[in-house]
Amino acid sequence: MNSKDGTMTRQDFNKLAATFLLGAVSPIGCSSRSTNPTYEELVKIIWRHSDPVNEQGSELLRELVRYATLAANSHNTQPWKFRISANKITILPDFSRRCAAVDPDDHHLFASLGCATENLVLAAKAFGFEGQVSVDGASSTEIQIDLIPMESLKTTMFQAIPERQCTRANYDGQPVPSDQLDVLKTIAQDNGVMAQIFTDKNELEKILEYVVAGNTAQMNDKAFVKELKDWIRFSRPAVVKHRDGLFTASSGNPTFPNWFGKMAFNIFFKTRTENDKYRDHIRSSAGVVAFISKENTKESWINVGRCYQRFALQSTALGLRHAFINQAVEVPQVRAQFANYLGIGDQRTDLLVRFGYGPELPRSLRRPIQQVIV
Ligand SMILES: Cc1cc2nc3c(=O)[nH]c(=O)nc-3n(C[C@H](O)[C@H](O)[C@H](O)COP(=O)(O)O)c2cc1C
Repeated sequence: MNSKDGTMTRQDFNKLAATFLLGAVSPIGCSSRSTNPTYEELVKIIWRHSDPVNEQGSELLRELVRYATLAANSHNTQPWKFRISANKITILPDFSRRCAAVDPDDHHLFASLGCATENLVLAAKAFGFEGQVSVDGASSTEIQIDLIPMESLKTTMFQAIPERQCTRANYDGQPVPSDQLDVLKTIAQDNGVMAQIFTDKNELEKILEYVVAGNTAQMNDKAFVKELKDWIRFSRPAVVKHRDGLFTASSGNPTFPNWFGKMAFNIFFKTRTENDKYRDHIRSSAGVVAFISKENTKESWINVGRCYQRFALQSTALGLRHAFINQAVEVPQVRAQFANYLGIGDQRTDLLVRFGYGPELPRSLRRPIQQVIV
């Protein structure tokens, strides 16, 4: 360890990695308590920056993985696995957590891996490592992040990692200053990904039409509804048990005993009320951003995820909330019509996100890192 500034040299890092690989370091992120933590305790354990002791580097690699798992991910399935080696972390897809109905081509799954990649790279930088990202050329299914020692840099985006959430609430309709929109646009574009921001009310109404069209199609799709219901956690005990999925409170909905929630879902989850909800959501937002990639490959989906995650973190740092409204880009037919409206030819609109000023909602959870490290 460089005693002057507390950063590690490559030798220090290799030693640390070897120590970890020999199993001498105890896992973090798991509570040593014998009693089960409550939802509130889990939120505190999960949504935090590192403890100072970890910042000294004793459990650095696992800590980088922990930051990666705080990324947004489709249906909160957490469809990732992490392999740690001496000076490299590899992110792999966990296809057992894919969502075949909403995401038949695994687009969202790979975008989710991109979100995790971005968090990991930002955290590595904060701990004094440049994360050099490469996507395995042959299969495009492995994301390798080589860690090269550098001066530590705690960016605004890094600071925002534990604050970010997808906030499915009504916002207050207030506009975002144009200089901040410029910052967000710049930060959200990279590697062939374009971010198109809409704030004009007429344009938002038009976008709303595509969201409603997509949502209506999805609500009529039995496989989509079943898959969604399977990932909803209606009660605190259910979310604490699984530590994944969509906690109803995180969507601004009440919690119920799980059996009752599943029954109530069938009664209350109706196309009209859902469409009305999205109308309110979009009309109360300051704007919408569409992420559009030049290519339509797994690697470009990963890059889209990275761009979204940067947008999400920077907007969080600016005091904004955001939430996905992907209905317009998930149903192929509606996606094509929406692309036509945007005038982007056969390019794919990957993700659609609204933003604005609004309240914080209860947090979603994450599984312990020992469940995702292979
Ligand atoms: C690729 C991708 C697609 C998503 N699609 C939607 C969506 O259509 N609707 C939605 O409400 N949330 C969507 N989300 C947000 C996730 O549900 C959310 O990230 C997850 O539940 C974890 O919550 P958190 O981001 O607040 O931690 C998506 C996230 C990603 C990365």
